[in-house]
Amino acid sequence: MRIAVLSRNAALYSTSRLVLAAQARGHEVRVLDPMQLSIVVGRRMEPPYFRGEPLPRIDGIVPRVGASITRYGTAVLNELERAGAVTLNGGQSILLARDKVASLQTMARARVRVPRTVCTRSTEGLEGVIRTVGPLPIILKLQHGTQGIGTMIAESKASLYAMVETFTAMGQEVMLQQFITEARNTDIRALVVGDRVIAAMRRRARRGEFRSNLHRGGQSEYVKLSARYRRCAVKAAKLTGLDVAGVDMFETPEGPVVIEVNASPGLEGIETTAQTDVATPIIEHLEARIAAHRIKMRAPKKARAPKKKPRR
Ligand SMILES: Nc1ncnc2c1ncn2[C@@H]1O[C@H](COP(=O)(O)OP(=O)(O)O)[C@@H](O)[C@H]1O
Ligand SMILES: [Mg+2]
Repeated sequence: MRIAVLSRNAALYSTSRLVLAAQARGHEVRVLDPMQLSIVVGRRMEPPYFRGEPLPRIDGIVPRVGASITRYGTAVLNELERAGAVTLNGGQSILLARDKVASLQTMARARVRVPRTVCTRSTEGLEGVIRTVGPLPIILKLQHGTQGIGTMIAESKASLYAMVETFTAMGQEVMLQQFITEARNTDIRALVVGDRVIAAMRRRARRGEFRSNLHRGGQSEYVKLSARYRRCAVKAAKLTGLDVAGVDMFETPEGPVVIEVNASPGLEGIETTAQTDVATPIIEHLEARIAAHRIKMRAPKKARAPKKKPRR
């Protein structure tokens, strides 16, 4: 099959692992930089251009669209889907996952437990918000943070006011969130592919830090998840519409609490911690999706009602 990894940099660990796994399974693979793809708008449906030339047919795509290029990356992805490619994580699902508020709402409505959260754009009524998500400390998150950057903690009312005031003045949307103490600065990262968790790890923040992200110096260890946590991770991914997802969860006495769902989860941390190949199952899932898509395209269209014979 003709497979493309949509990524800005072929040398990145996750990109190169996906390329190697696809090659090992006999596919023709290329890395496409979404920023070098142009969307063509015209009367005819045309595939996007790559470096000025129409892109040849592609069967399947594994997008690795970074947070900084979400908008253009997902627009390109939608075009590729329209041109007939199967994409592991469609443009719409990536957009939803990148919107922290919308994705938390989607999960809360489907009865997945998430931390109590309030979005605000001013310091007015902050006392009420503190009563809702408090007690202090309270977590503050910027709408488009990633790798732990954009997630902060306010230990006092004074710092909470100052932070909310500063961010809203800067035009940033902030989310205020209940601090999950039971988590003790650890969380679970589960890698979901299709309807399976294929690897998981427990991450622990370094001393003096509450964020457990590996990019923020967190330590990780292999963890075998119980069925309850696996079900929760798969449900969170499904609700967001993602085929491949890194689901972050807190472990609490009442069971899993989902923090967020990542649409482009890094493969390095989880592969080295769980000592397992996660790139191959991703490619295998893409193969299955392409096969299902082909069957659907070959199936005869619903029989149309016969045209009425013209009256003589
Ligand atoms: N409500 C919370 N209570 C306690 N710790 C939290 C909370 N939310 C986030 N954290 C910590 O901060 C980290 C980063 O937050 P997260 O929402 O996952 O943002 P990012 O997208 O930057 O990874 C989490 O992995 C977790 O360790
Ligand atoms: Mg996270």
